[in-house]
Amino acid sequence: CGIVAIAGKDEVAGRLVDGLKRLEYRGYDSAGIAVAAEGGVERRRAKGKIVNLQERLTENPLKGLTGIAHTRWATHGAPNETNAHPHMSGSVAIVHNGIIENYRELREDLEGRGRKFESETDSEVIAQLIDAYMEEGKDPVAAFEEALKHFHGAFAIAAIFSNDPELVIGARKGSPLVLGYGEDEMYLGSDAIALAPLTRDVTYLEEGDWVVLRRNSFDIRNVRGERVNRARVTSAVNDALIERGEYDHFMLKEIHEQSESLARSIMPYINQATQTVSVPEAAETLFADADRAVAIACGTAFYAAFTAKYWFEQIARLAFEPDIASEFRYRRPVLPQKGFSLFVSQSGETADTLAALRYCRENRTPAIAVVNVPESSIAREAASIVPTHAGPEIGVASTKAFTAQLSVLAVLALSAAKARGHLLPGDEMNYVRSLLALPRKVTEALECAGQVREIARHIAGKRDVLFLGRGRYYPLALEGALKLKEVSYIHAEGYAAGELKHGPIALIEKGLPVVVVAPKDELFEKTISNVEEVRARGAEIILISDAAGIKAAGKRADHVILLPDGDDISLPILSAVPLQLLAYYVALTRGTDVDQPRNLAKSVTVE
Ligand code: G6P
Repeated sequence: CGIVAIAGKDEVAGRLVDGLKRLEYRGYDSAGIAVAAEGGVERRRAKGKIVNLQERLTENPLKGLTGIAHTRWATHGAPNETNAHPHMSGSVAIVHNGIIENYRELREDLEGRGRKFESETDSEVIAQLIDAYMEEGKDPVAAFEEALKHFHGAFAIAAIFSNDPELVIGARKGSPLVLGYGEDEMYLGSDAIALAPLTRDVTYLEEGDWVVLRRNSFDIRNVRGERVNRARVTSAVNDALIERGEYDHFMLKEIHEQSESLARSIMPYINQATQTVSVPEAAETLFADADRAVAIACGTAFYAAFTAKYWFEQIARLAFEPDIASEFRYRRPVLPQKGFSLFVSQSGETADTLAALRYCRENRTPAIAVVNVPESSIAREAASIVPTHAGPEIGVASTKAFTAQLSVLAVLALSAAKARGHLLPGDEMNYVRSLLALPRKVTEALECAGQVREIARHIAGKRDVLFLGRGRYYPLALEGALKLKEVSYIHAEGYAAGELKHGPIALIEKGLPVVVVAPKDELFEKTISNVEEVRARGAEIILISDAAGIKAAGKRADHVILLPDGDDISLPILSAVPLQLLAYYVALTRGTDVDQPRNLAKSVTVE
């Protein structure tokens, strides 16, 4: 979900909607705004996308200088107008990200005192409890502070009040909240992107902080209610990175940006003069003595971690166990004795990944974070941060963040290999050259777009698609399938090529498309044997490979997609490009909402 709030000197409704449009990628089930003016607080809400809210506002405008806005990704309660934010009770209106875990108890208690709830959400309890304290005679600030003490869970909140129409109060615990400074105005946003049209002059609030603001004053308090100073910084978000420009979709723009995003992500970790890798010292010292590492992430970031397993084990000879955060966190996993934990996350806010990080910290396992948002919660709480510099990723299906994660994980694996005495200087130099060539090679890989588009037209009419890969290309097959299902809604599965015969082969029937990710490596022939098995049963083979692989496969592929030449590090990264393009063009042909696929959200700050 996304939040924007303005304590302004000019009308806010239009500007709140602009901020929401920037945030739409974080949730788009429903949206709403509330504005405070002398006459009280009024709100407009609408199910679905922000254009629906805009229509409401055109029919029935809101006037006022102070307001809050929200775009929702439903957790508790269906995505309808009644459950949309802002929620109001008496003289307060609130917007909320995250989950109030103890909302049932709070609601029962409030209902017991005669209060009537109108929605099914956990969020409404926030407005109701603040209002209850105000009814007891507390002023808005005191009522907010008191209510805050009762909320368990992870949240970011912004509130406005009809009896004090210039006031905005915000709080963060678990979910991020950014304070923005304007000329005679103050803002709140759930990230710096939301505030980009208004200001780049910001403060990232810290865990437990809450803030009282008016258009020309602010007062930040910590969890104990003490006044605190927090650093004021210039956010790196600029408009070019968050505009679609000439592209039809953010996803396509971000696929095409990968040459630059990879260069930005790799360069900080390469010493060009010596052609060696260099990573933050804190991370490097963990590598030398480690006996084992666990790597935790969700979604696409998990597949990046899974790919890294092959590099850490083969090149650095370090046992490396990737795991899905939601599974890891609840089974009391056995942590490495002398090793470390690694967390991979684009947003740095994914609730399950953050909880897994906290588990590792509590159990004294040092955590390295590979994150794309350096101000994020995961970045703040890790012992060592190794940032990716993909830039803001707006398309809900992750593309450039994935390849940036892979490149940084590759650098970490090489650095571990070096620290552990498994990398000869000559080999390091070759890998560094290969990493430095990646931006150029990505541009080459993108040349397959026209051809992928043709193949995509063909696939768009199919019901199921399989993706196969072996070794370091197995996680890429999984990611290719995920990408396709996310944006095109076609049922897709990724399998380890060698596992196919143990069950999934039953799915093969005439005309079923099977995408095989198999550049020519030591396992190529084995993968091709699996290709023979499915071809014999009528499958249609789409082979993604380098020139040597395509030649060796000969007529055994029905369609081929050519990758540039590379090695065991660059080729898995390059393979991502045609997989992304395939998903994109299939979705385009099917007319789905590529940047905001149904039911998904970019940043999942709930369990
Ligand atoms: C959501 C997104 C995925 C993403 C995953 C992990 O489910 O839709 O695209 O891979 O979260 O997000 P993170 O920000 O932790 O990388």
